[in-house]
Amino acid sequence: MMHFGAIIFVFILIHLYQFWLQMKMGTLEMVTVAGMDHPIADLYKPCYEVFGNIGFVLFYVISMAILAFHLAHGFSSAFQSLGINHKKYTPLIKFIGLIYSILIPIGFALIPIWMFLNR
Ligand code: HEM
Repeated sequence: MMHFGAIIFVFILIHLYQFWLQMKMGTLEMVTVAGMDHPIADLYKPCYEVFGNIGFVLFYVISMAILAFHLAHGFSSAFQSLGINHKKYTPLIKFIGLIYSILIPIGFALIPIWMFLNR
């Protein structure tokens, strides 16, 4: 768990550098979008570049698998740590937590895969 947490932390640092920091530094082109009254940073471009590299695609997909594992375990651990234990509801909450922990990272992982395959 601790190692997975550390990997996720490294993932967030790299991820923020690739997109969020580029936007904040003003290095991205500004584009006008229909319906918006001011120009916005063109984040599609760095996504297109990063996810054209199979190494980064694998890095994102593996990070999402680790995130799923981390969340699935963390969810049930949180209940244990808080001492919440109900015969009927705890297994149900844990099941919903497990599904959520798996579905959300799958949704995230589909973005780099989709962008790599559709160019
Ligand atoms: C794998 C698919 C992902 C893609 C394609 C993606 C893409 C992006 C992009 C383009 C930005 C900059 C735009 C913005 O700040 O609104 C961003 C920001 C961010 N991302 Fe992601 N992201 C992904 C997954 C994740 C995951 C799994 C996490 C957390 C574990 C995460 C955490 C963040 C954070 C904290 C920001 C800064 C948000 C902010 O500006 O308020 N991202 N992401």
